[in-house]
Amino acid sequence: MKPMVAVTNIFPQIALDKLASKCDLKTNKLGISPTKVELGQMVKESDAIITYLSDRIDCDIIDQTTQLKVIANYGAGFNNIDVTYASKKGIWVTNTPNVLHETTADLAWAMILGVARRIVPADRYTRGGKFKGWGAEMFLGGDVHGKTLGIIGCGEIGKSVAKRAMGFQMRVLYYQRNRLPDEEEKFLNAEFTSLNQLLRESDFITLHVPLTDETEYMIGNDEFALMKKTAYLIHTARGKVIDDYALVAALKEGRLAGAALDVYESEPELTEGMVDLENLLLLPHIGSASFETRDRMALLVADNILDVLSGKTPRSLVPGYLK
Ligand code: DGY
Repeated sequence: MKPMVAVTNIFPQIALDKLASKCDLKTNKLGISPTKVELGQMVKESDAIITYLSDRIDCDIIDQTTQLKVIANYGAGFNNIDVTYASKKGIWVTNTPNVLHETTADLAWAMILGVARRIVPADRYTRGGKFKGWGAEMFLGGDVHGKTLGIIGCGEIGKSVAKRAMGFQMRVLYYQRNRLPDEEEKFLNAEFTSLNQLLRESDFITLHVPLTDETEYMIGNDEFALMKKTAYLIHTARGKVIDDYALVAALKEGRLAGAALDVYESEPELTEGMVDLENLLLLPHIGSASFETRDRMALLVADNILDVLSGKTPRSLVPGYLK
């Protein structure tokens, strides 16, 4: 009998085909996340499970496993999984690093330019038939080139964002727990600062930290108070890094020029007041959503599962997994 692999949601065919030669697949092609009960049933009957970030794999779910060997998350972030508990139970947990950082950095840049130059409201205005001729004060926005970019979390995505800033002749500041080696700072043309200095001096602040106890709500009222009134905030990491109520208040009161969000504190719910704000660009968590990258992520998920099923350590075990 072949091992059983459960897939909680829609998943690229290229990776399903790769798995199908060695495994039986139980797929969900409805595009609707399984309920907790359904998830429990899936883990009970499977040797491997492919999960979305919206599938909460907590100790209740893990306790229902009988033969599960690996939880293979379809994403780089893995805050939806109780990794400590899974590792205690001897279940591998994998993610998809190193394949999506350039694509996510592309989106962060689309958001920087989009919010500063008011692309979405201008598009709405034009397609709404309101464009009657050139106007000297029509849709004025902030310049991007020559400004200061503050990167919070300079891992692979943050670094890819920094590289793109060179083409815009920007000063780049970064903040994270550990300073990068000198040569890397030089290569990225990036200065290490404290969080407060970064918040005070940046014109664009972009977040690229994972969600952990340390980063949960790291940006709230106190941090907004330090930012320039002309600054823009870009967020493609995990919703709970920002206090969304504080963000809405800062934007409403003109304490910040604008923001662009791809992730939300109570995702997929939006915080009250968000949809009414013209200076807030809202996207539905599409950081890694390119055809090429989603296939790369899915193939990595498949490889992780095949590694485990052939008795090997999976190639992209999540950081912090206790072997
Ligand atoms: C990621 O890879 O973490 C993306 O946010 C999708 O889960």
